[in-house]
Amino acid sequence: MEAQPQVKQRIFSGIQPTGNLTLGNYIGALRNFSALQNEYDCLYSIVDMHAITVRQNPAELRKACLRTMAIFLASGLDPEKNIIYFQSQVSQHAELGWILNCFTYMGELSRMTQFKDKSAKHADNINAGLFTYPVLMAADILLYMTNLVPIGADQKQHLELARDIAQRFNALYGDVFPVPEGYFPKVGARIMSLQDPTRKMSKSDPEECYIAILDKPDVIRKKLRRAVTDSDTRVVFDPENKPGVANLMSIMTALSGKTMDEVSAEYDGKGYGVFKDAVADCVISVLEPIQNEYDRISADKAYLEQVMVSGRERAARIAYKTMLKVRKKVGLAALTL
Ligand code: TYM
Repeated sequence: MEAQPQVKQRIFSGIQPTGNLTLGNYIGALRNFSALQNEYDCLYSIVDMHAITVRQNPAELRKACLRTMAIFLASGLDPEKNIIYFQSQVSQHAELGWILNCFTYMGELSRMTQFKDKSAKHADNINAGLFTYPVLMAADILLYMTNLVPIGADQKQHLELARDIAQRFNALYGDVFPVPEGYFPKVGARIMSLQDPTRKMSKSDPEECYIAILDKPDVIRKKLRRAVTDSDTRVVFDPENKPGVANLMSIMTALSGKTMDEVSAEYDGKGYGVFKDAVADCVISVLEPIQNEYDRISADKAYLEQVMVSGRERAARIAYKTMLKVRKKVGLAALTL
């Protein structure tokens, strides 16, 4: 008997096109995108609708979307193998988002830590979109019947909510959605700020707190040399007492493939200056080739346009099919072609 072709499992993940993508985004998520692209059927989205929950400059946002797409491609994502697209260009995200709003409780959304953080940061603009942000994220994931979601640790709570919504929907209407699992990197699921290593590295923090994927080598080295460590001199992994050193060790371990013990054996006792320079060498050796690719790709506007159009069309085909099913289940009028 002929072997049946194996159906690949589906992956979905998204990144907001706001500010500069950071080394945290790279280690926590983006790096895994290209690592998974051969084994899975993947969609990677630039989630511009999530971005407008915070006020954006329109011209800047449009540029940032293209920049993010170019970074996706430069990091090694093959646009033939993966569907790379802008969330807002597939209108079913908004459509499913609305429907899922009707299956999500206010209490669940009030518990989301990102909502609490962001509403504290943007106290003058606590809009309803910021509150229902995780529902749109659930819609992103469920729209494509996703099995696996590569993300950093800060998105775990949102993914849990997406799972709850899927289960709730399935309990009412039969098995409609697979219940998605998270895929977290073993090391580096939470890269911390260089200036306050008890907080996560975030693109909305001041420049010196993060390394941007597009930071030039001398900037990377300068930022790492100034990274907060401690008054001790030991290079040992102790996140509680030595969060700054532990963070630099995580960065090096995640990027070099060395174990924590190997990093410690190599740099313990040599002084933080030597260690920080070695971390800088390691980060530069990973980011510099991506930056060269980025320069090449971002100069080719026609190519970016082509990836955008093809991604949008391929994503919309899957999204349309899901919505036929969902609309039927909840009793909305049938769509005609
Ligand atoms: P965003 O844009 O904040 O971050 C994109 C990805 O990077 C990860 N990440 C980190 N990982 C490790 N250390 C850090 N310091 C760090 N900072 C960010 C995030 O966990 C994320 O995986 N809500 C999402 C975007 C989104 C999404 C989705 C993700 C919208 N819809 C559907 C997955 C599936 C966000 O704001 O990520």
